[in-house]
Amino acid sequence: MVVLPASNPNSCHIMSFDNLNLDPQILRAVGEAGYFEATKVQTEAIPKILEGLDIRASAQTGTGKTAAFLLPALNYLIAPSNLDGKGPRILILVPTRELAMQIASQTEKFSKYLSRVRTVCIVGGVPYPPQVRQLSRPYEILIATPGRLIDFIHRKKINFSRLEMLVLDEADRMLDMGFSKPVEEIVAATPSSRQTLLFSATLRGSVLKLSEKLMDCPVEITVHANREKHENIHQILHFVDDLAHKNRLLDYILTQQEMKTGIVFTSTKRYTDHLVKELLDKGYKAAALHGDMNQRQRTRTINELRHGKIKILVATDVAARGIDIQSITHVINFDLPKNTEDYVHRIGRTGRAGTMGTAISFAVGTEISLIKHIEKFTGQTIEIKEIVGLEPRSQKQSSQKAHPLSLRRFENRRFKSKTSVLHKKSTRGRYNRKLCPGKIN
Ligand SMILES: Nc1ncnc2c1ncn2[C@@H]1O[C@H](COP(=O)(O)OP(=O)(O)OP(=O)(O)O)[C@@H](O)[C@H]1O
Ligand SMILES: [Mg+2]
Repeated sequence: MVVLPASNPNSCHIMSFDNLNLDPQILRAVGEAGYFEATKVQTEAIPKILEGLDIRASAQTGTGKTAAFLLPALNYLIAPSNLDGKGPRILILVPTRELAMQIASQTEKFSKYLSRVRTVCIVGGVPYPPQVRQLSRPYEILIATPGRLIDFIHRKKINFSRLEMLVLDEADRMLDMGFSKPVEEIVAATPSSRQTLLFSATLRGSVLKLSEKLMDCPVEITVHANREKHENIHQILHFVDDLAHKNRLLDYILTQQEMKTGIVFTSTKRYTDHLVKELLDKGYKAAALHGDMNQRQRTRTINELRHGKIKILVATDVAARGIDIQSITHVINFDLPKNTEDYVHRIGRTGRAGTMGTAISFAVGTEISLIKHIEKFTGQTIEIKEIVGLEPRSQKQSSQKAHPLSLRRFENRRFKSKTSVLHKKSTRGRYNRKLCPGKIN
């Protein structure tokens, strides 16, 4: 059971699920899941979705966006479709396979008392025949990643004639991954009468442009978006000299008592594997997760992390979005992410549903401008920390001044670094809202 504490940003305007006009059989499953009060994004989004409106919703990581779209979606399925066909009535599109599987298992949990609700999950990296078989029988909910879904659409294996709702979860990530054309193609294959919902902790830039094409006068819901401090996540920054320094700091952090389960984000698949080998050699229960692994290994790794068999997951950004494992106490940015949005999502793997978490980032001196972008984007300062005996060289050379250190002190300091400098992409963009755009299809 998860209790959202009074200090949680979601605990204001909380509402009982009973007042949200959801079917009693759904409420029964919601109660069994330990949900007693709706979070703010659920309170705001569910009634509007039930009214049939298109929604563009942005709310902090770990605040229950999944149930915000799943519960009203399931509510639609209480009434039988008046259209012929055996294709999906609800389509949920997500960027990663792990997220698709996680949402599929939540769908099954919330629909367990509903008859006639079958869920099919279509992701890449697994054999086609079982998926073909599943798609040949009637089903109501389809959860998919864009690549494999497009494949099935081209093979004419999916009939969207009775589709009522399309949900794009983490739509901005799908665009980042270069899926904007497939997403548009998928949308174009669905009926224009559909309701469209877009959810992410970060919604800006090109995803808003896309949403204007896909949605009908969408209602905007913004709950404690990226500009608000995530009270549940303690953010820390360590300046580092080089790779060896990162490794020593990581070693130190992993041996701290409060460190229970963590995700260590690296920027390359190769280094992910390398780091895992080193951690295993040192006796840590570690495993890798990245896009070059086969799906069987990926699924096994996530399950082992969920069940506490693995304590440290070393991952690329494939693990940055949506993954919900409440036992994660620490997120470590061994390499900084490419952009500010990825930072928000990565650190959001901890501090979920009212729990507290710690996010630690390593940065070389030349990455200060990215850190500044992140601070501007999130509207908060990241606490700079040093560990006695593990200070950055340039800091050791200067006289040890009072803590906490400010970013400004590091600004004009030169750090000689052997680690590669990650690019500092400016992702500044303004919310560009237009009313009633012509939507695709
Ligand atoms: N009303 C609620 N009461 C208690 N727990 C909840 C409630 N709603 C959601 N949760 C739990 O909170 C956790 C986070 O939910 P969810 O994964 O939907 O967050 P999210 O907003 O989609 O985060 P992200 O942006 O990282 O994808 C999950 O473990 C979920 O079961
Ligand atoms: Mg989510």
